[in-house]
Amino acid sequence: MSFSVAHFSDLHLGPLPQGAALHDFRTKRLLGALSWHYRRKKLHDPKVADALRVDILNSKPDHIAFTGDGVNIASPKEFPLLLKWIEHFGAADFLSYIPGNHDTYVKTAYEKSLGLIEPYMRGDMRGEQQFPYVRLRRNVALIGLNSAIPRGFHSAEGRLGNAQREALRARLVELKNKGFYRLVMIHHPPAIGIATRYRSLIDAPELMAVLAEAGAELVIHGHNHRREMNWLETGASRIPLIGVPSASMASPHHPAEWNLYSITRNGGRWQTQVSMRSWLGTAQGFQTVGTFMLDEVA
Ligand SMILES: [Fe+2]
Ligand SMILES: [Fe+2]
Repeated sequence: MSFSVAHFSDLHLGPLPQGAALHDFRTKRLLGALSWHYRRKKLHDPKVADALRVDILNSKPDHIAFTGDGVNIASPKEFPLLLKWIEHFGAADFLSYIPGNHDTYVKTAYEKSLGLIEPYMRGDMRGEQQFPYVRLRRNVALIGLNSAIPRGFHSAEGRLGNAQREALRARLVELKNKGFYRLVMIHHPPAIGIATRYRSLIDAPELMAVLAEAGAELVIHGHNHRREMNWLETGASRIPLIGVPSASMASPHHPAEWNLYSITRNGGRWQTQVSMRSWLGTAQGFQTVGTFMLDEVA
């Protein structure tokens, strides 16, 4: 019997609400709003995102992972709309959210921003800090990291920090000993060279060391708005690092996509099937564009 997880990312929910850029005036937010109106608006289509949501629900996954950038300029006017959009999926224990850099685009009061989404970021295991949170679903542990930090102009960098990385290390070891499949969720690509300099995870080398030492069965991410697959060599095994395009991208260049992971324990080994569902335009909607077993490409 398999456990299935639908993964999507980088919703960048539009359109920008009226006056979103003017709240608590910040220059970076204003520039972000201009970028939305002149560039992103043409790329991100809310209708595509709604179709993606319907497609995911039709596939009846056991769980949903949403790896951040739900909003655009971290305006308090955007987060209630994001919450409403997410609530269509169902109860908070059915969808796991982690923050992306656009969710902390500028410093915004927590209770007016990510605080609204907090029920979707609550773990089952008691920890000293909110992240990493762990949700245990059957024999799968979903581990949510927070790499989103407010940064200056032109920076989309992320960082986990030492406390989060060390907590992650302890959790990974503990969950392996308990026999769980460890599915790690992070917004930024978790390795060096996957994202360009001003978009990268600052402490990627340290994270890679933790993953290599403690192990994980799968790491999923967003941020780059394109389909990506990399491997972290650990000596004993290889950890797949898989990124999805933006959930709302209408253009045929890196169109919206989501992945369905079906995880099975078979003869003492984990098997993971990956199915990619891609937006092929209004007439065809989302279609499966590829299916493969992770252990066969490992
Ligand atoms: Fe994004
Ligand atoms: Fe991002």
